Amino acid sequence: MSISVIGIAGSLRTGSFNMALLRAAAELVPIGMTIEIAGIDSIPLYNADVDALGTPAVVQELKDKIRAADALLIATPEYNYSVPGVLKNAIDWISRNPDPPLTGKPTAIMGASVGVLGTVRAQYHLRQIGVFTNMLILNRPEVFVGRAQEKFDASGKLIDEPTRKIIGDLLIALKDWTNKVSGNQ
Ligand SMILES: Cc1cc2nc3c(=O)[nH]c(=O)nc-3n(C[C@H](O)[C@H](O)[C@H](O)COP(=O)(O)O)c2cc1C
Repeated sequence: MSISVIGIAGSLRTGSFNMALLRAAAELVPIGMTIEIAGIDSIPLYNADVDALGTPAVVQELKDKIRAADALLIATPEYNYSVPGVLKNAIDWISRNPDPPLTGKPTAIMGASVGVLGTVRAQYHLRQIGVFTNMLILNRPEVFVGRAQEKFDASGKLIDEPTRKIIGDLLIALKDWTNKVSGNQ
Protein backbone atom coordinates (compact mmCIF):
# COMPACT_ATOMS: atom_id res chain seq x y z
CA MET A 1 0.00 0.00 0.00
CA SER A 2 1.35 3.44 -0.89
CA ILE A 3 1.47 6.02 1.91
CA SER A 4 0.28 9.54 1.09
CA VAL A 5 1.85 12.31 3.16
CA ILE A 6 0.85 15.96 3.50
CA GLY A 7 3.78 18.27 4.23
CA ILE A 8 3.44 21.57 6.07
CA ALA A 9 6.18 24.13 6.65
CA GLY A 10 5.90 26.62 9.50
CA SER A 11 7.31 29.51 7.50
CA LEU A 12 5.76 31.82 4.91
CA ARG A 13 9.13 33.14 3.72
CA THR A 14 9.87 32.72 0.00
CA GLY A 15 13.39 31.45 0.71
CA SER A 16 12.34 29.35 3.71
CA PHE A 17 14.83 26.64 4.70
CA ASN A 18 11.96 24.66 6.16
CA MET A 19 9.98 24.72 2.93
CA ALA A 20 13.23 23.72 1.18
CA LEU A 21 13.55 20.84 3.67
CA LEU A 22 10.06 19.67 2.71
CA ARG A 23 10.95 19.88 -0.98
CA ALA A 24 14.05 17.78 -0.25
CA ALA A 25 11.85 15.25 1.57
CA ALA A 26 9.55 15.06 -1.47
CA GLU A 27 12.64 14.19 -3.55
CA LEU A 28 13.95 11.64 -1.05
CA VAL A 29 10.73 9.64 -0.55
CA PRO A 30 11.13 5.89 -0.32
CA ILE A 31 9.28 3.65 -2.77
CA GLY A 32 5.63 3.46 -1.77
CA MET A 33 5.32 7.00 -0.43
CA THR A 34 4.21 10.32 -1.95
CA ILE A 35 4.47 13.80 -0.39
CA GLU A 36 2.21 16.71 -1.29
CA ILE A 37 3.09 20.08 0.21
CA ALA A 38 0.18 22.14 1.53
CA GLY A 39 0.46 25.89 2.10
CA ILE A 40 -0.70 27.68 5.24
CA ASP A 41 -0.25 31.18 3.78
CA SER A 42 -3.97 31.93 3.53
CA ILE A 43 -5.02 30.65 6.94
CA PRO A 44 -6.57 33.59 8.87
CA LEU A 45 -5.65 34.40 12.45
CA TYR A 46 -7.71 32.21 14.75
CA ASN A 47 -10.80 33.98 16.03
CA ALA A 48 -13.43 32.01 17.94
CA ASP A 49 -16.14 34.38 16.68
CA VAL A 50 -15.25 33.48 13.08
CA ASP A 51 -15.03 29.79 14.06
CA ALA A 52 -18.55 29.98 15.54
CA LEU A 53 -19.88 31.06 12.12
CA GLY A 54 -18.37 27.97 10.47
CA THR A 55 -14.95 26.73 9.37
CA PRO A 56 -13.40 29.11 6.79
CA ALA A 57 -13.02 27.51 3.35
CA VAL A 58 -9.19 27.64 3.38
CA VAL A 59 -9.11 25.95 6.78
CA GLN A 60 -11.60 23.32 5.64
CA GLU A 61 -9.45 22.64 2.58
CA LEU A 62 -6.39 22.05 4.76
CA LYS A 63 -8.38 19.86 7.17
CA ASP A 64 -9.70 17.79 4.26
CA LYS A 65 -6.21 17.34 2.79
CA ILE A 66 -4.82 16.17 6.13
CA ARG A 67 -7.77 13.86 6.76
CA ALA A 68 -7.40 12.29 3.31
CA ALA A 69 -3.65 11.72 3.76
CA ASP A 70 -2.21 8.70 5.57
CA ALA A 71 0.39 10.76 7.40
CA LEU A 72 1.63 14.27 8.12
CA LEU A 73 5.14 15.74 7.89
CA ILE A 74 5.81 19.08 9.59
CA ALA A 75 8.96 21.16 9.03
CA THR A 76 9.17 23.82 11.69
CA PRO A 77 11.49 26.80 12.15
CA GLU A 78 12.28 27.93 15.70
CA TYR A 79 11.12 31.38 16.76
CA ASN A 80 12.12 32.50 20.24
CA TYR A 81 12.68 28.90 21.34
CA SER A 82 9.26 27.75 20.13
CA VAL A 83 7.16 27.08 17.03
CA PRO A 84 6.37 30.12 14.88
CA GLY A 85 2.97 31.72 15.36
CA VAL A 86 1.89 30.89 11.80
CA LEU A 87 2.32 27.17 12.46
CA LYS A 88 0.66 27.28 15.88
CA ASN A 89 -2.19 29.29 14.38
CA ALA A 90 -2.72 26.75 11.59
CA ILE A 91 -2.65 23.89 14.12
CA ASP A 92 -5.13 25.78 16.34
CA TRP A 93 -7.58 26.07 13.43
CA ILE A 94 -7.31 22.46 12.29
CA SER A 95 -7.55 21.18 15.85
CA ARG A 96 -11.11 22.50 16.13
CA ASN A 97 -14.32 20.53 15.76
CA PRO A 98 -15.88 19.20 13.64
CA ASP A 99 -13.63 16.27 12.78
CA PRO A 100 -10.17 17.50 13.78
CA PRO A 101 -7.96 15.59 11.34
CA LEU A 102 -4.88 15.54 13.57
CA THR A 103 -6.42 13.02 15.96
CA GLY A 104 -4.57 9.75 15.55
CA LYS A 105 -2.64 11.02 12.52
CA PRO A 106 0.83 9.46 12.14
CA THR A 107 3.16 12.48 12.04
CA ALA A 108 6.86 13.10 11.56
CA ILE A 109 8.56 16.37 12.45
CA MET A 110 11.83 18.02 11.44
CA GLY A 111 13.17 21.54 11.41
CA ALA A 112 15.87 23.86 10.18
CA SER A 113 17.23 27.00 11.80
CA VAL A 114 20.26 29.19 11.43
CA GLY A 115 21.24 28.48 15.05
CA VAL A 116 23.43 25.50 15.94
CA LEU A 117 20.68 23.55 17.72
CA GLY A 118 18.48 23.30 14.64
CA THR A 119 15.02 23.79 16.22
CA VAL A 120 15.50 21.42 19.17
CA ARG A 121 13.42 23.60 21.49
CA ALA A 122 10.70 24.30 18.92
CA GLN A 123 10.35 20.59 18.18
CA TYR A 124 9.86 19.73 21.85
CA HIS A 125 7.11 22.35 22.01
CA LEU A 126 5.60 20.84 18.87
CA ARG A 127 5.63 17.42 20.53
CA GLN A 128 3.83 18.95 23.50
CA ILE A 129 1.18 20.43 21.18
CA GLY A 130 0.88 16.96 19.69
CA VAL A 131 -0.24 15.58 23.05
CA PHE A 132 -3.45 17.57 23.29
CA THR A 133 -4.19 17.39 19.56
CA ASN A 134 -3.49 13.64 19.73
CA MET A 135 -1.12 13.55 16.76
CA LEU A 136 0.89 10.35 16.81
CA ILE A 137 4.34 11.88 16.45
CA LEU A 138 7.18 9.54 15.56
CA ASN A 139 9.93 9.62 18.20
CA ARG A 140 12.97 8.83 16.08
CA PRO A 141 15.02 9.80 14.20
CA GLU A 142 15.09 13.40 15.39
CA VAL A 143 16.00 15.73 12.53
CA PHE A 144 17.56 18.97 13.73
CA VAL A 145 19.12 20.95 10.89
CA GLY A 146 21.37 23.58 12.47
CA ARG A 147 23.27 26.25 10.53
CA ALA A 148 20.79 25.82 7.71
CA GLN A 149 22.38 28.64 5.70
CA GLU A 150 25.34 26.28 5.05
CA LYS A 151 23.25 23.28 4.01
CA PHE A 152 21.32 24.55 1.00
CA ASP A 153 22.61 25.99 -2.25
CA ALA A 154 21.43 29.30 -3.71
CA SER A 155 18.51 27.56 -5.46
CA GLY A 156 17.29 26.08 -2.15
CA LYS A 157 18.50 22.55 -2.86
CA LEU A 158 19.61 20.59 0.20
CA ILE A 159 23.26 19.80 -0.47
CA ASP A 160 24.35 18.45 2.92
CA GLU A 161 24.67 14.67 2.56
CA PRO A 162 24.23 13.71 6.26
CA THR A 163 21.01 15.78 6.31
CA ARG A 164 19.75 14.13 3.12
CA LYS A 165 20.49 10.73 4.68
CA ILE A 166 18.66 11.44 7.93
CA ILE A 167 15.61 12.80 6.08
CA GLY A 168 15.54 9.56 4.08
CA ASP A 169 15.72 7.61 7.35
CA LEU A 170 12.90 9.73 8.82
CA LEU A 171 10.66 8.98 5.84
CA ILE A 172 11.33 5.23 6.06
CA ALA A 173 10.51 5.37 9.78
CA LEU A 174 7.34 7.35 9.02
CA LYS A 175 6.30 4.72 6.49
CA ASP A 176 6.79 1.93 9.06
CA TRP A 177 5.05 3.99 11.76
CA THR A 178 2.06 4.71 9.51
CA ASN A 179 1.70 1.04 8.61
CA LYS A 180 1.97 0.06 12.27
CA VAL A 181 -0.60 2.63 13.41
CA SER A 182 -2.96 1.70 10.59
CA GLY A 183 -2.65 -1.98 11.45
CA ASN A 184 -1.01 -2.85 8.12
CA GLN A 185 1.96 -4.50 9.79
C1 LIG B 1 11.13 36.12 15.37
C2 LIG B 1 12.29 35.19 15.15
C3 LIG B 1 12.77 34.43 16.20
C4 LIG B 1 13.81 33.53 16.01
N1 LIG B 1 14.20 32.74 17.04
C5 LIG B 1 15.10 31.75 16.82
C6 LIG B 1 15.39 30.81 17.84
O1 LIG B 1 14.84 30.85 18.93
N2 LIG B 1 16.29 29.83 17.55
C7 LIG B 1 16.90 29.74 16.34
O2 LIG B 1 17.69 28.83 16.13
N3 LIG B 1 16.63 30.61 15.33
C8 LIG B 1 15.75 31.62 15.55
N4 LIG B 1 15.43 32.50 14.55
C9 LIG B 1 16.13 32.39 13.26
C10 LIG B 1 15.49 31.33 12.37
O3 LIG B 1 16.13 30.12 12.63
C11 LIG B 1 15.69 31.69 10.90
O4 LIG B 1 15.02 32.90 10.61
C12 LIG B 1 15.19 30.60 9.97
O5 LIG B 1 15.71 30.83 8.68
C13 LIG B 1 13.67 30.52 9.93
O6 LIG B 1 13.22 29.45 9.15
P1 LIG B 1 12.82 29.60 7.60
O7 LIG B 1 14.11 29.73 6.84
O8 LIG B 1 12.10 28.32 7.27
O9 LIG B 1 11.95 30.81 7.41
C14 LIG B 1 14.40 33.41 14.73
C15 LIG B 1 13.91 34.19 13.67
C16 LIG B 1 12.87 35.06 13.87
C17 LIG B 1 12.32 35.86 12.70
